[in-house]
Order: sequence, then structure tokens, then C-alpha cells
Amino acid sequence: MTNIEQWQEELAGESPRSILKAALKQYDNIAISFSGAEDVVLIEMAHKLTDNLQVFTLDTGRLHPETYEFVEKVRKHYGIEIEVLFPDTEAVQDLVNKKGLFSFYEDGHSECCGIRKVAPLKRKLATVDAWITGQRKDQSPGTRNDVPVVQEDTTFSTETNTLVKFNPLANWTSKEVWDYIRMSEAPYNELHEKGFISIGCQPCTRPVLPGQHEREGRWWWEEATQKECGLHAGNLIARS
Ligand code: ADX
Ligand code: SF4
Repeated sequence: MTNIEQWQEELAGESPRSILKAALKQYDNIAISFSGAEDVVLIEMAHKLTDNLQVFTLDTGRLHPETYEFVEKVRKHYGIEIEVLFPDTEAVQDLVNKKGLFSFYEDGHSECCGIRKVAPLKRKLATVDAWITGQRKDQSPGTRNDVPVVQEDTTFSTETNTLVKFNPLANWTSKEVWDYIRMSEAPYNELHEKGFISIGCQPCTRPVLPGQHEREGRWWWEEATQKECGLHAGNLIARS
């Protein structure tokens, strides 16, 4: 049995805090990938478990003002560093000058996400041994039903580096996350007060109506089964 399979067995029924604790104990060079939304619970839990917390966020250049404000709020609230990663200038310029600022509405989000999110993430992940995400099964019935609490990251591992991905919130529901945010008085993104549940880039995120699933507010012009931007592309491969 590989280490990862063993951890999957050991950690499958554990709480998010225990999973985080195990991840931080196992790896020194491990980072939380913070989207500027309710995954702040990971920071709330982890900052009490280590003095050596690495957090990064991918600034696509297309985030809501509220999200930028929130990232700064989190930085100050917890007194932590948050590394902000930017896309390659030339790649963004080429895309925008060739296809305009809203090409994703015409030919899908994967090209823009590839440049603005996936490439910078890939660069970052080449520098760590493991990463921690806020993915949950209940976030996207079309793509995330099978997300385990820990997995080998088959998308970003390389021949020389097996990258491990922890998803401590995999088994938590949105309600559990929000109960925790309220109980711990963690800061949250103001967009949540304006009807947004799942938050990504401004042009590709909208509030949902009562009864709609949170994922319906993301890339609403595309099929539910394609609603992954490439950060978690393994979720699509696993289902095909
Ligand atoms: S996405 O792939 O559809 O954009 P989602 O918004 O559901 O992802 O968030 C799931 C997890 O992916 C987050 O908890 C976070 O770990 C990571 N993530 C998503 N967007 C970003 C971002 N802009 N910066 C850093 N991490 C992100
Ligand atoms: Fe581009 Fe939209 Fe993807 Fe953001 S979510 S990187 S704006 S396609």
C-alpha cells in the first residue's frame, strides 16, 4: 500500500482540523491555495497549528474588488503572509489582443483559465511538496462527488516530484463551513452578503437564486460536467 492510500484510509473519517494537522506534520514545504472565499476556514484552522504557514492566491486580474479587499483583510486579521501569484504578462496580452476581454463567453473558459490560473499555479506547485485546497464534494455534483481528503495530484505531479493534494474540507457541507466561520468569527468575503455563494472571477461568477445549486453561478453558459477550470482538472479525468 502506498503512503497516499494509507493516509486515505487513516484520514477519510477525520475532521478537517485533524487532516490539516496531519498534512502540516508530514510536510514542511506545503501551501494552502486560498481563493478568497469560504476556504478561509482552512486558514482559520491552520494558523493555530503552525507558525510556518504558506498561503498563496492566484490573482487572475479579473477578481471582484470585494475579493481583493478580502484577501487584504485576511492577511491583516491573521497576521500572515499571502503570496499573490500573477499570470504571465505576454500570455495575457496575446490572448486579450487576439480575442478580446471576454473570449470565454464565445469559446469556453479553458483558454483564459489556463493562462490566468493554471499556468501560475503550475509554477507555484513546482516549488512545494504538497498543497491544500478548499475543495468539497458538495460544491459541484457534476465534478466533485468523489473528491478524497488526500490524493496524489496527477495533474501537477512531475516525473521527479510526486505532488500530494490535501482536501481537508472534502466531506464538509457548505452549512458546516459557514457554521465554523460564524462560530470562529472568521472574516468573510462581502460578496457572500450579496447573494454569491461560490466565488471565482467577476465575469464568470454570478449570484444564484433560491434553490439553485452554488455551482450554477459559475460559468453558467457551460455544461455542469465541464465546470472545472483546470486547477482541479483531475476531477474531470476521474469521471471520464
Ligand atoms: S475553481 O477551480 O472552480 O475555480 P473553486 O472556486 O471551487 O475552484 O475553489 C476550490 C479550491 O480551489 C479553493 O478552495 C482553493 O483551494 C482553490 N482555488 C480556487 N481559486 C483559487 C484562486 N484564485 N487562488 C488560489 N486558490 C484557488
Ligand atoms: Fe478567465 Fe473566467 Fe477563468 Fe477567470 S474564471 S480565468 S476570467 S475564464
